[in-house]
Amino acid sequence: MPVGYVRGLGRSDGGVRESAARDHVSFWEGQARLLDWRAPWDRALRWEPPRARWFEGGRINACYNALDRHPDKSKAAILWEAEDGASRSLSYSDLLSETERVAGALSSMGVSKGDRVAIYLPMVPELPISMLACARIGAVHTVVFSGFSAAALGQRLQDSGAKALITADGMYRRGKAIALKPAADEASSGLPVERTVVVRRTGQKTRMGPRDLWWDELEGRAPAVPVESSHPLFILYTSGTTGKPKGVLHGTGGYLTHVHSTFRWAFDIRDGDVYWCTADIGWVTGHSYVVYGPLMCGATQVIYEGAPDHPDPERPWQIASKRGATILYTTPTALRMLMRRGDPPARFDLSRLRLLGTVGEPINPEVWRWYHDSVGGRRCPVIDTWWQTETGGMMASALPGIEESDPKPGSAGFPVPGVALSVLDGDGAEAAPGQRGYLTVDGPWPGMMLTVWGDEERYEKYWSKYPGRYYAGDYAVRDGDGHLWMLGRADDVLKVSGHRLGTAELESALVSHPGVAEAAVCGVPDEVRGEAIAAFAVLREGATCGRDELVSWVREKMGAVAAPSRMHIVPRLPKTRSGKIMRRLLRDLAEGRGVGDTSTIEDPGAVSDVRAAIGRDMT
Ligand code: WTA
Repeated sequence: MPVGYVRGLGRSDGGVRESAARDHVSFWEGQARLLDWRAPWDRALRWEPPRARWFEGGRINACYNALDRHPDKSKAAILWEAEDGASRSLSYSDLLSETERVAGALSSMGVSKGDRVAIYLPMVPELPISMLACARIGAVHTVVFSGFSAAALGQRLQDSGAKALITADGMYRRGKAIALKPAADEASSGLPVERTVVVRRTGQKTRMGPRDLWWDELEGRAPAVPVESSHPLFILYTSGTTGKPKGVLHGTGGYLTHVHSTFRWAFDIRDGDVYWCTADIGWVTGHSYVVYGPLMCGATQVIYEGAPDHPDPERPWQIASKRGATILYTTPTALRMLMRRGDPPARFDLSRLRLLGTVGEPINPEVWRWYHDSVGGRRCPVIDTWWQTETGGMMASALPGIEESDPKPGSAGFPVPGVALSVLDGDGAEAAPGQRGYLTVDGPWPGMMLTVWGDEERYEKYWSKYPGRYYAGDYAVRDGDGHLWMLGRADDVLKVSGHRLGTAELESALVSHPGVAEAAVCGVPDEVRGEAIAAFAVLREGATCGRDELVSWVREKMGAVAAPSRMHIVPRLPKTRSGKIMRRLLRDLAEGRGVGDTSTIEDPGAVSDVRAAIGRDMT
């Protein structure tokens, strides 16, 4: 039994766990009642596996719950820190009036309920405002991470059928102004995007076409329109095991209920808190725990525009101390990067911190301890929250807002109330304590995705490996005390710096290069980023492209986050007799390990070819 770690305080919410255990559907109904509904539901859950509809018949508006309903709108909502050190504070009433204006303008452009609006913005207050403006009128937002390339944006615009696009003239990254509008133009050319709204951020020269409008010139005012509980709130593209990213579609009432409850349970939010989640809003953590969770709870939060290590790795401590952050929620990658640079310098006052969280990838116990001891000063509970884009909100974590926890560094603790998780073996039997198995969710939960946009089959696949259960794609272990340990992906999905990328997606980017005949990608352990991308390419006859050119190609096709850190050109790839590329073997080779039995390889010479290429490229 570990001792000496700060336990969650356990401010009780009135027997949450007990009431969830009695009847999880009526438990979630009780949680849903904490939100403002325009019309009550007549059915709490319609479960027709694998499809669930929560709070059917109920009518609700996400923006109303995030903004309008707060009695004290003079409270600070967003404390924004620009990369260059400038800052802005926006109260709930500032957010509301901006959101009403943009929502009104979107309506007058012809954006109506159910239409998709793509948002391609850096971490500026206009990003949450844009999302809320869409939600206000029942439009479906699809945020595309601003680090993605024009090609990646174009693919998402096309798949979602976006009617409008909100972007900026440019963005700041590590002190440089990077143009965004040209990428937005390139991405939307030839697509039925009727309007592009442009936020002025960098002031760089920007070409405006006939369908383009400046954000600051928009006019309008729109009320919050109540929508059916399962009306789609957003599409967020994420990577799976096939080449095409999937549009995870989330609904409104169930999603909001899940996020609102888990935000309070995990972060024990109180009136004087200054919460800071470092995630980019372009990923799901930012949707649920920068935009909807904190705003529905009326929290005050810090949003930072830039790279965490710009101009130096002290930046996060400087911001936390300047703004008096009390709660910090970040990724193991960010912590590993910071930990390398030593403890937070004493001149930054972090004494207001009282709770720390992590998300997105497994956290190494030594990093967990450093977070607990050196960042939290041994005063703050550390929670490790496990969840996914598809789950909408947290599924496992210690919950200092409702119960005492018994932290074990590196463990995600227990399922959240109202959610049941199992660790199963390949045959669907419960894995024995301490045995690695596949993580599943047993039955529906309110934050679950509605479907995969335009691809019902892909949605059904999650539920087909273990009928009636959702297959998460992660390995996990439950220890003898029932604590869950999340071990990372069991499929061909990578977590690079906490960002989710599919090997198949990377491979199709590579083979789209005219000089590449075949490609294979695998993850290799990386001390800071968790995983790094190792790519292997076989060139076409006569092609002469070099390794750097291929790396730039992937960057251009997908964005900087996807650039391989190792690129090897090989004469052939190791394959099984049935023609499947042996990625696990490539991973062994990339890590310099022995490859064991190679009797299933069709052409054993491929192994020595790959080994030779690695040897050549790594010197
Ligand atoms: C991984 C991010 C270990 C996991 C919210 C999952 C984690 C994938 C944790 C989803 C954690 C997330 N410990 N692994 N606490 N949290 N993961 O969709 O592999 O970007 O399947 O959502 O991140 O990534 P996504």
